[in-house]
Amino acid sequence: MMEQVMRNFFLYMGKNRVATKVAKRYGMRFGASRFVAGASLDSSVHAIKKLNQKGLSVTIDHLGEFVDNAAEADEMTKHCIEAIERIAKENLDSQLSLKLTSMGLDIDYDMTVKNMRRILKSADQHDVFVTIDMEDFERCDKTIEIFTELKKEFENIGTVLQAYLYRVADDVANLNDLSPNLRLVKGAYKESPKVAFPDKKDVDENFKKIIRMHLLNGNYTAIATHDDQIIEYTKELVKEYNIPRSQFEFQMLYGICVDRQEALLKDGYKMRVYVPYGKDWYGYFMRRLAERPANVAFVLKGMMK
Ligand code: FDA
Repeated sequence: MMEQVMRNFFLYMGKNRVATKVAKRYGMRFGASRFVAGASLDSSVHAIKKLNQKGLSVTIDHLGEFVDNAAEADEMTKHCIEAIERIAKENLDSQLSLKLTSMGLDIDYDMTVKNMRRILKSADQHDVFVTIDMEDFERCDKTIEIFTELKKEFENIGTVLQAYLYRVADDVANLNDLSPNLRLVKGAYKESPKVAFPDKKDVDENFKKIIRMHLLNGNYTAIATHDDQIIEYTKELVKEYNIPRSQFEFQMLYGICVDRQEALLKDGYKMRVYVPYGKDWYGYFMRRLAERPANVAFVLKGMMK
């Protein structure tokens, strides 16, 4: 009960535009650096190199939410292109993740597609894979629509589907004709029980269902979770159906379950770490706190410093 209240509180705070802007101005606080590689591209490159040296692959994400004007969306687009060029120049084992709201989704649909084409052309040229993160339910249809349109033009693009949504198995089935590379996750936003399973047990079952569907459809699947039970389920499934290790990978977030990341790598699985960086750390940080109220201890420690 208390856990649910805290979860709702952090998810609510994560959507607060004023707090987001204030946090951006004052820099990283409250132990957020446990989950965010740093404010600059340089700091994320430093983190990527350290992870790559261990054999871990990466996807970087330049944090940015609530972009509400065209100039800011253009700036975010340029940041992504700069990150792609840097990945190529330094020969890093890294992909790029981004959010469509950063590219202008809340402002103008066509502008967002245009910005995405600029990014994907650069990604194509430099052979860098781009994943469109999935945001809240309100943006789900548009995200899938834009992904579908761009997937017909570009090879190196994937997106994310969330197991907590009732609709997700239909989305997996409907996208199958595109043979998409999908990252499957539980889902990180506060959603109404009208659209998403409120009960964790149902989310976990649905997660297993879509992992099975997408893998058995023969598509590349990123299983993005820290949940041992889901990881073990996937290991058993791939063994049972002789699914090659080249058809899937595990993904985890920077700073979370680091030992588990290294253990999976040691067992010969492909392991990718999601490395966020940038000044807009607040919303991302609030979602990480919501996932695990025990993380609040880190916030309290951060406040004492
Ligand atoms: P669950 O929440 O059940 O956690 C299982 C265990 O993992 C916990 O018991 C704890 O030990 C550990 N754990 C989980 N979260 C933790 C945290 N914050 N701090 C410390 N320990 C933690 N969501 C989304 O809506 N859209 C997206 O695009 C993405 N993208 C994405 C990429 C990658 C690489 C990952 C790993 C996750 C996402 N997510 C996401 C987030 C995802 O939806 C989900 O909220 C988190 O992964 C937490 O769910 P788990 O599957 O880890 O299970």
